[in-house]
Amino acid sequence: MNLNLRTLAAIVAGLVLTSSVAAAGSAEKGKAAYVRHGCWQCHGFDGQGSVAGSKIAPNPMPFEAFSDFVRTTSGAMPPYQKAILSDDDLADIYAYLQSVPKARDPKTIPLLNP
Ligand code: HEC
Repeated sequence: MNLNLRTLAAIVAGLVLTSSVAAAGSAEKGKAAYVRHGCWQCHGFDGQGSVAGSKIAPNPMPFEAFSDFVRTTSGAMPPYQKAILSDDDLADIYAYLQSVPKARDPKTIPLLNP
């Protein structure tokens, strides 16, 4: 399992080296960066989570904690250092995760409230 994650991180790093620099805080660019950096592979395209990674949107944790986690995590998720994931891309990814709409209140869905 650990070896697979490291291999995946190496592939992600390889993809990232070909990526372009994005301006900070753009949800649109962030969505592209989120896909390019492979976050979706474990967290789902909308950050909804999967068996491989937790739910990270909507309502992501405060930016400082988010940035700190992504840069320094030593658990199941590979850490993304600046050489691999720029500060601009990270800010854009955060803006994208913030832009993911919240799920509807089940009480407002008629089929769920016979
Ligand atoms: C190889 C799978 C994988 C990839 C790729 C991945 N993650 Fe994760 N991520 C995880 C797992 C598993 C956890 C939970 C691990 C833990 O808590 O130590 C996690 C946790 C997180 C958390 C903390 C969530 C919380 O509530 O504690 C954030 C934020 C996060 N990931 C963001 C990202 C971003 C942004 C990217 C892309 C740059 C990314 N992840 C790529 C697997 C992945």
